[in-house]
Amino acid sequence: MNPEKIDFYNLGFNFIETKQMFISNFKNGKWDEGKLISFGPFEISPAACILNYGQGIFEGMKALKSKTGDITLFRPNENAKRLNISAKRLLMPCFDEKGFITAVKNVVKANKDYIPPYDSGGALYIRPLMIGDGPILGVSPAEEYKFIIYTVPVGPYFPEGFKAIDLEISKEYTRAAPGGTGFVKTCCNYAGTMKPAKETKSKGFAQIIYLDASNMEYIDEVGTANFFAFIDNKLTTPKLKGTILPGITRKSVLEIANTNLGIETEERDISYKELFKESCSEAFCTGTAAVITPIGSITTDNEKRVFNNGEPGDLTKKLYDLLTGIQRLDIEDKYGWVEKI
Ligand SMILES: Cc1ncc(COP(=O)(O)O)c(C=O)c1O
Repeated sequence: MNPEKIDFYNLGFNFIETKQMFISNFKNGKWDEGKLISFGPFEISPAACILNYGQGIFEGMKALKSKTGDITLFRPNENAKRLNISAKRLLMPCFDEKGFITAVKNVVKANKDYIPPYDSGGALYIRPLMIGDGPILGVSPAEEYKFIIYTVPVGPYFPEGFKAIDLEISKEYTRAAPGGTGFVKTCCNYAGTMKPAKETKSKGFAQIIYLDASNMEYIDEVGTANFFAFIDNKLTTPKLKGTILPGITRKSVLEIANTNLGIETEERDISYKELFKESCSEAFCTGTAAVITPIGSITTDNEKRVFNNGEPGDLTKKLYDLLTGIQRLDIEDKYGWVEKI
């Protein structure tokens, strides 16, 4: 789409085609050097491993424009590392981490006319994607792969201001089981969450809080975001135990809460029952898309807990201002997380 035709002040989170994408092919045991090409379709064998057995992994990140016009990325080395953790779990070839960051920067530069302006609150969403495209019949890894990076301009998560969302705890669906693939960003983890998400949305909830598959008691995560609650004045989040995606926003929030706001943090199992007690004062979820999203209420099959009259909590707002301030370079980045392109 011609960038001049895009209304950057009214974007949602929908696919819009940009100009260029990066593509690298893995053949005969190695990646080629990769190149930027026009965004567009490519041919794929119907027997490709990704099409038949879902051998695909991806990442999600954002390029932002600062007030002074700099183009920035947030902790891209963490996405590079996580991609390779996903690759190893799915027996896919790793991609050089420095090469990943260079390719991401080149794709962003090639699509710089699509980065929403600072005052729109939007971002250029970046989608690195690796697929097993070699043909296969038995269930085993492909021998050929593609690594692609494309971009999409997206609007702010809160177009009408910072608002709390209502969530439902599912006692019916689970997202990941011990020993499975919940801790990596593989395509097949997401297909199964579409039906639960559709059903909960039809009931008026924004998303589902998934419980652990073994006990149906401890919180895993929220759709495509990690879960946090202030319990006994501690910022508490489910510990990583193989069923939860280790979010980069999660890791950053734990660090800024502790080192910037002096809040005690804890990673442990959280029973959903704790959310219905007075000792739990605020809750929110985190992610590249969700940034920090306050939770206004949590509902189970027989109970509802409303936090702070459905308004964002004070500590949640403080963390949001701090994180987005650092990401947008409005606040000094003393952590060295923001990389200028
Ligand atoms: C299942 C899931 N959990 C959590 C997250 C948040 O991770 P991050 O903060 O790295 O975007 C995401 C999004 O990437 C996700 O898909």
